[in-house]
Amino acid sequence: MFFDHIEMAPADPILGLTDAYKNDTNPNKINLGVGVYQNEDGITPVLDCVKQAEKKLLDTETSKSYLPITGLPEYGRLVQELVFGPNSDIIANKRAVTCHCPGGTGALRIGADFLKQQQVVKRVWISDPTWANHYQIATVAGLKYERYPYYDKTTHGLAFDAMMACLEQAEEGDAVLFHACCHNPTGIDPTVEQWEQIADLLNRKHLLPFMDFAYQGFGHGIEEDAQGVRIIASRCPEMLIASSFSKNLGLYNERVGALTIVSATAEAAATVLSQLKIAVRTAISNPPAHGEKIVTTVLSDPQLRARWEEELTEMCTRIREMRVLLAAKLKAAGAGDFDFVVEQNGMFSFSGLEKAQVERLKKEFGIYIVGSGRICVAGINHRNIDTLVNAIATVIKD
Ligand code: LMR
Repeated sequence: MFFDHIEMAPADPILGLTDAYKNDTNPNKINLGVGVYQNEDGITPVLDCVKQAEKKLLDTETSKSYLPITGLPEYGRLVQELVFGPNSDIIANKRAVTCHCPGGTGALRIGADFLKQQQVVKRVWISDPTWANHYQIATVAGLKYERYPYYDKTTHGLAFDAMMACLEQAEEGDAVLFHACCHNPTGIDPTVEQWEQIADLLNRKHLLPFMDFAYQGFGHGIEEDAQGVRIIASRCPEMLIASSFSKNLGLYNERVGALTIVSATAEAAATVLSQLKIAVRTAISNPPAHGEKIVTTVLSDPQLRARWEEELTEMCTRIREMRVLLAAKLKAAGAGDFDFVVEQNGMFSFSGLEKAQVERLKKEFGIYIVGSGRICVAGINHRNIDTLVNAIATVIKD
């Protein structure tokens, strides 16, 4: 037998929760596991700007033939403008190359494959905690990883000094993975001053920055959220950036993301691109077109772009309102001080709930949150918030 030695794998810590939630017969069940935006009615909407772009595409698309290996150049240019700003020297000097990858995960994986295949780095430093998939992407790509501390449980803030002290141990030639904004799962991001210190450390120690930029626009705005990436890009000659349009354009199942690699010179960038094409060709051959074309249409049409920004603001505002309400209701229910929830960025709240409490929420109340205590605030609405608060207060007080 070829397969009989294979061991049963555990369910995915995030997507596995969605499966379990679907099978739960509790009529009051709530899924706050996966990072997917839901509106006040509990629906994950197709954005209006996306619908309009799709209508345009339906009328104008003439072929479903293959895209180039790295996607259409127009898409790459628009991604770079979002990441670095339209007037960036990096773009003008052709130091960045971008390839369309299937989602942020695809970009991380193609990036990790590239680093391994080209023997760029052997080791990558990853925050602890992080998005559960980071560690396994590094492993399957054949990269070793180390963890650096990120979260201070007592202050519910960034463990900045511990992180910097730990990264002093990184060796020249290592890569360091950062969440560019809306750190998943903690929702805690470095300040501008802290990004500057991080960039100096990376530059001084010749470490390669790899930015996971899955939530641009979900923190403080499209431009504001790019500050960390731009500060690092201004001080480090080379870096990788994995972008995603799953969240900010709600294009989850279209799998549309991008990997951008910045080199020190245009010549080096052209060489990188030639090898990147092999990494993509051997993994996915060439990218799916629909999502890429939606993004290109929205970003290049001023009206659609403005509509997108409005819709993004609406989503973020709703999440911020839910943060405030959640903290207030938990306090009123005697569950303690959750004011830190209001300070966190993005879709998630790192609640501080322990594993046993998370289990009880699931078993007794049909409330699904990630084992680390991460709650998807984007799934809370006025109808389910009291059920959630009562359940959390019960498991905390018991
Ligand atoms: C999440 O963290 O929930 C999202 O990024 C979805 C995923 O693929 O895990």
